Formats: sequence, C-alpha cells, structure tokens
Amino acid sequence: MNELAGRKIVLGVTGGVAAYKAAELVRLLGKAGARVQVVLTDAGARFVTPVTFQALSGNTVWTDIWDPRMANNMAHIDLSRDADAVLVAPASADFIARVAHGLADDLLTTLCLARDCPLLVAPAMNRQMWEHPATQRNVRQIVDDGVTLFGPAAGDQACGEIGMGRMEEPETLLENLIAYFVPKTLAGRRVVLTAGPTFEAIDPVRGITNSSSGKMGYALARACAQAGAEVVLVSGPVALPAPVGVRRIDVRSALEMRAAVFDALPGADVFIGVAAVADYRPAQAAEHKIKKSGETLSLALTPNPDILTEVAARADAPFCVGFAAESRDLDAYAEGKRRNKRLPMLVGNLVGDGLGSDDNLVILYDDAGKHPLPRAPKSVLAGQIVDHLAGLLAARAIPS
Ligand code: C5P
Repeated sequence: MNELAGRKIVLGVTGGVAAYKAAELVRLLGKAGARVQVVLTDAGARFVTPVTFQALSGNTVWTDIWDPRMANNMAHIDLSRDADAVLVAPASADFIARVAHGLADDLLTTLCLARDCPLLVAPAMNRQMWEHPATQRNVRQIVDDGVTLFGPAAGDQACGEIGMGRMEEPETLLENLIAYFVPKTLAGRRVVLTAGPTFEAIDPVRGITNSSSGKMGYALARACAQAGAEVVLVSGPVALPAPVGVRRIDVRSALEMRAAVFDALPGADVFIGVAAVADYRPAQAAEHKIKKSGETLSLALTPNPDILTEVAARADAPFCVGFAAESRDLDAYAEGKRRNKRLPMLVGNLVGDGLGSDDNLVILYDDAGKHPLPRAPKSVLAGQIVDHLAGLLAARAIPS
C-alpha cells in the first residue's frame, strides 16, 4: 500500500543500538512510497554504516555539515526544505537534550533548527536515562516546542534491563507516521466496532462460523484511530494483528460479542457493526465431543440477538453504522436494513465483491441517499467511510 506516496521524509539516525532497526524502517518507508533522505550522526554511523542506508534508501546519505557534495554547502537547509517531516529514529537522550536547548553543532541538529516542517522523534535509550529528570525535562521542552513523540515503548532493553525507553518497532513507527498525516476528523470521539466472524460452538471442538476475514472491520478500526478517535475493536476469531492504537477485545460467540459491546459502549459516540454475526447458534452446545453414529444428526438452532439493532434502539444510542453484504438487489436490501435497524448510515456491498479479498466495491447509504465509492483497497475505502462518517457527525453537530 502506497500510503506515503509522494511524501519526502528526512530520517535522522542518532547513536543508539536501535539504529539497526532504522535500516528496516527505511525499507518500510520506501515500500510505503516515501522518498527517504537519511541523515546520520557520527554516533549513529558507529552502529550502522552510511552504506547500508544508502543501499536501502537509494539516496545519498548525509553525515557531515561540511559535506562538499551539496553544491551550495547548505545541506542543513536544503534537506528539509521540501520535506514533509523530519523523523528521528532512534533519538538518543543526547540528541533530545541538544534539540531542547536549540544546539546546532552537527548536521542533524542544525537541520532540526533550520527546518520548516514537523519534527517527529522516536526516543530510544536505557530506562534510567529515559526516567532521569533531565531527560524528562528536555522531553517536555521539545513537546512544548511542537515536536511530536512516537513512543518510547516499554519492554526488554539491549542492556538487559526491562522498562520504558525502547524505540517503537519499525512497523509501529511507520503506522505512526502514516497516521500523522491523516486529518484528525474524529478527534475526541470514542468509537466501538465489531469485526470478523463469530464462532458458535456445537461441541468442545466444533462450531458454526463463516468466511469473514475481518479485513474490512480492522481497516475501519485503523482508519478511525488514524483520524484521532479512541477505538475499541470487539473482534471475533481472525488471523489479523490489532491495528496500532486500537484496543482489541477478543470474543468467540455472538453472545460474547454482545456482552463485550455493551461493556464498551458507555461514552461511545459511534458504534460500527462490521462483524458477520451468526444469525443462529446451536440451541445447546454439547458438553462432550459428539461421536459419529452413522445416523442422521439434526442440530436445533436458536436465533442470536441482533447486536446492532439493540445498540441503535437504545435511548442513548451512539451514531450507528451498519454493514450489509448482499448477493443481489443491494439498494433495496441495504436501504431496507438501514431503515429497519434505524441507522443513520450503512455500508453496502455485493458479496463476491469483497468478502475475504483486499479490495471492495461499496455504496454508502444515509438519509441523503446513496453514495457509491469507486472500487479500492479496503484500507482506502476505510478512510473514505471515516470521512463520510465524520461529515455526518459534524453536520449533526454532535459535540465531541
Ligand atoms: O441483518 P444483517 O445481519 O444482514 O445486518 C448486518 C449488520 O448488522 C452488520 O452491521 C452486522 O454487524 C450487524 N449484526 C449484528 N448482530 C447480528 C447480526 C448482524 O450486529 N446478530
């Protein structure tokens, strides 16, 4: 996915063992479509050589403020001029201290002072260095000056200690960077979503489920988080990682999903039902594995509650969005479902056009009519669905 296509990123790498992860970050940024210029400090170059970054970025690597390769000798100005952001990962305690005090005694700090684009900093250091009052003071100072922090994370450290100060993983930094550029149309909103299939037990080892991959729900949860919402994702069994910044609650059956949704609901502004919830469950799950007997076996099924309908019917219902996957007559069924369930917005698609795949073709339905979206990857559609949703929320003037 080219989510950073056309973006120019200056990646600063300072002296820390996490510098080896910056190499992977360059690769991920490139894969996401960004053009990356790496600036390496002297200490950074002790950990990973410029050759590695040059090979991965396909660009000259800059290390020296006096580098004669820049025609006007002004690398510190030229590198940041058409950049969308300067990202420093890893950012050492020393680098943060120097930025906090406006020092400009090497190429990277000079560039940070001369830049006219955002500065994003991913700290990486020993936990005691991170917790030191001087570092905390410097971090507060750079945040006050408008710098955005990515991390740090807690966990095992290269020094053998455990605690706060680890650099966020390259995949997380990439997600943070993509999210940074997304307009915060859902800032201050709390969103609860369901995603994936449900699994309705027949006996301890068997159950009824469906082929929902969870991809659309996960893409939508990610897009809501990128737009600044606090997101709770109630997920049926799927093989997908939780999107960065999303709180995921794992459930199996429709009844578990319903209980988790109602737990998460207080204070929610939006509820989005993307899950393919089983309409029926076995009336009685067998306590022990059912043995084959050669006889016909019938299974009594009982209807599951409709979670979305129940949520939308509450007096204090959040803004509810439904999904409808139909095999024919999409307009009639989708609009009928929207009205029956009393939903201000519904996303419809024809099955065969989306279930399990990465692309989808959807139509949005609301009180103003239908709004078809062009076929696109689910991650792109998710952003467009969030834009539409944010527009409707704003039009309703629901205070955030
Ligand atoms: O009526 P139908 O199942 O087609 O409606 C689909 C919509 O309702 C989806 O948004 C789905 O997540 C939601 N739903 C639900 N609980 C159910 C069945 C569907 O929340 N038991």
